[in-house]
Amino acid sequence: MQTKQLKELISQMTIEEKIGQLAQITGDFFDTNAKITGPMQTMDLTEKEITKVGSVIGILDYKKVKQIQDMYLAKSRLKIPLIFMSDVIHGANTIFPIPLGLSSAFNEDLIYEVAKISGKEAAIQGCNVTFSPMADLAFDARWGRNMEGNGEDPYLNERLTQAYVRGYQQKDKQGNLQLASCLKHFAGYGLVHAGREYNTVDISQRFLKEYHYPAYKSGIDAGAKMVMTAFNTINSIPAVSNESLLKRDLRQNMNFDYPIISDWGAISELIYHKVAQNKKEAALQAFKASCDIDMMTSCYQKELPKLIDEGLCNEADLDKAVYRLLNLKNELGLFENPYGQIDEEACKNFILSMEIKNKAKEAADESVVLLKNEESILPVKNEEKVIICGPLSNTKELMGPWSIYGDVSAISSIKEYFTKQNKNIKYIDYEQVLQNIELIKGAKKVIFFGGETSFESGEAHSKTNINIEQKQLTVLKQIKTIVKDIVFVNFSGRPLILSEINIYCQGILQAWFLGTMTAQSLYDIIYGNINPSGKLTMSFPRTVGHCPISYRDYPTGRPKEYAIDEYTSKYIDCLNEPLFPFGHGLSYANIQINKIVYDKEEFKKNEKIIIQVEVENLSKISAKQTLQLYINDLVADVIRPRKELKSFKKFKINKLIKKEIIFEINKEMLKYINQNGEEQIDTGDFEIMIGFDSTNVQTQKIKLIK
Ligand code: BGC
Repeated sequence: MQTKQLKELISQMTIEEKIGQLAQITGDFFDTNAKITGPMQTMDLTEKEITKVGSVIGILDYKKVKQIQDMYLAKSRLKIPLIFMSDVIHGANTIFPIPLGLSSAFNEDLIYEVAKISGKEAAIQGCNVTFSPMADLAFDARWGRNMEGNGEDPYLNERLTQAYVRGYQQKDKQGNLQLASCLKHFAGYGLVHAGREYNTVDISQRFLKEYHYPAYKSGIDAGAKMVMTAFNTINSIPAVSNESLLKRDLRQNMNFDYPIISDWGAISELIYHKVAQNKKEAALQAFKASCDIDMMTSCYQKELPKLIDEGLCNEADLDKAVYRLLNLKNELGLFENPYGQIDEEACKNFILSMEIKNKAKEAADESVVLLKNEESILPVKNEEKVIICGPLSNTKELMGPWSIYGDVSAISSIKEYFTKQNKNIKYIDYEQVLQNIELIKGAKKVIFFGGETSFESGEAHSKTNINIEQKQLTVLKQIKTIVKDIVFVNFSGRPLILSEINIYCQGILQAWFLGTMTAQSLYDIIYGNINPSGKLTMSFPRTVGHCPISYRDYPTGRPKEYAIDEYTSKYIDCLNEPLFPFGHGLSYANIQINKIVYDKEEFKKNEKIIIQVEVENLSKISAKQTLQLYINDLVADVIRPRKELKSFKKFKINKLIKKEIIFEINKEMLKYINQNGEEQIDTGDFEIMIGFDSTNVQTQKIKLIK
């Protein structure tokens, strides 16, 4: 349809029909079970109102989608199709690693491929919009939703967010969008106070602009077709009704002209926030802020007709909101084919196919982070007698949160898969080990699968205690008295406190939740068929008292390094530094940096510095490694992080060879937001730091001259 036709269509719609388009409800209203991903409130929708809604959430089943679409269109006067939206966050039926895990791959090409293939698995079943990616930057391990993001670094978040959007938003042969990507949650949701879910956010405009907006912006620049508002407040105003946030920053400054959707129930929650008396005020505030779609409340449908009638909201704005949604339906080709990309044949052959599983395996292999490997305890040799145990060794619940459509029967438990691979592996039931520690006798190594369960992170799963549970620690301590060599495989949706684990275990693998191919991937890594290459994208605190923590901390007036007495910025009972820093991740290979050569140390704004880094793999095993480049502005208008990631290169390196990696420094990498909220680039001195993690770096001073 052409724009003109869309506008003509809107001109034929009644006010009720237009407002109906802005309402989103679950499939339950159409007599089909849907996934419920938030609190259900009474909506009191009449039959007539239901037949006018514009979108449906939570159905991923082509038969149901077709049935609902048919029923709906049969009753629809203007035959405007429904649009179906779902949370396909890290896979539809085939589950990929949780996004925080996948971010450890430091690999935007891989993320593009994952989004492309999982997007296809969803689209062929009738999904038109996925509520992914989450671009919220976060550095508080207590927050349950860390699992859904890309970690603590703005630059990495920016690059990975756009890769998701590009990956999801493929076009079909007719040029129709196959799936639209909805960026969320605008804005600053990852900063909820004290890591407590849905809590207040207090952030300066400068930090918001400099560190948090760039990822959303990168997603929008990559073409994201929808943005979801956050549950939190910004500047004491809930995001869904925050005009400066939505109208000024998102619509105007970021040039976003596609639908903005509220998060689940957020419009009526303005009443609980105590900024609206009733649903009418709530609807007015959200609509005026330019929130187009009302997810799972009846505020718009019940109240907007009155508000327009009373002249408090204006019909021209309503037309704009409806246009944004119909335009998206049009880009998805739904007017010509209301079933979108539904493909029954592909549903039989593609869902959970080897093609997707292979990609899921590759993604899992790159997501695992080897945190510690003393005395090369890993990889385990095939002939070694190994005992596997631990609370997560005999469960299929390894998909992680937000895998609502995932097929748990497609997963092998660790016990099932490992014991089939190798007769030297003995499984011992965790409960039995708890009763009788002697059962561990006779093993050369123990591999303990612990951490937190798949149900302990995700939305509404904030914690104050992110330690490994006492029961696991006690049994590990006992195991240690019998078997010296212990590897701890940590499953978690967030950084957990591994300080005590670090005392008992020579090997620690961070396994996140790896999805459908968990067991296959962990087996290959533990037995050295795959060389681990993941790097942490969130620092692992030493204690919960460290939270929030990030490698990007700021200089203070009393830095602990320079002060001569006790009045310094430090803890009296713990080191400032995390246990495992951002960017950390070991390899079975020994790769070193031989030399770093800068082509110049001073450069002008129209010039670049070229850096050649010679790396060498000294071992007889090939590897993937990530070289990271950090910058520090030595004197600036406002305080600058002591280290900021500005570039990274992930590369493959075969055994026993040298390789050259090239970095470029340009003035754009030195940009920041000054006191007046404007972009500024300072002339003067900068430090460039290059290494395989954020702490072990080689530093060189450079100068930007006029
Ligand atoms: C979450 C969103 C999600 C939505 C729909 C909300 O509770 O915050 O991220 O997309 O539900 O399921």
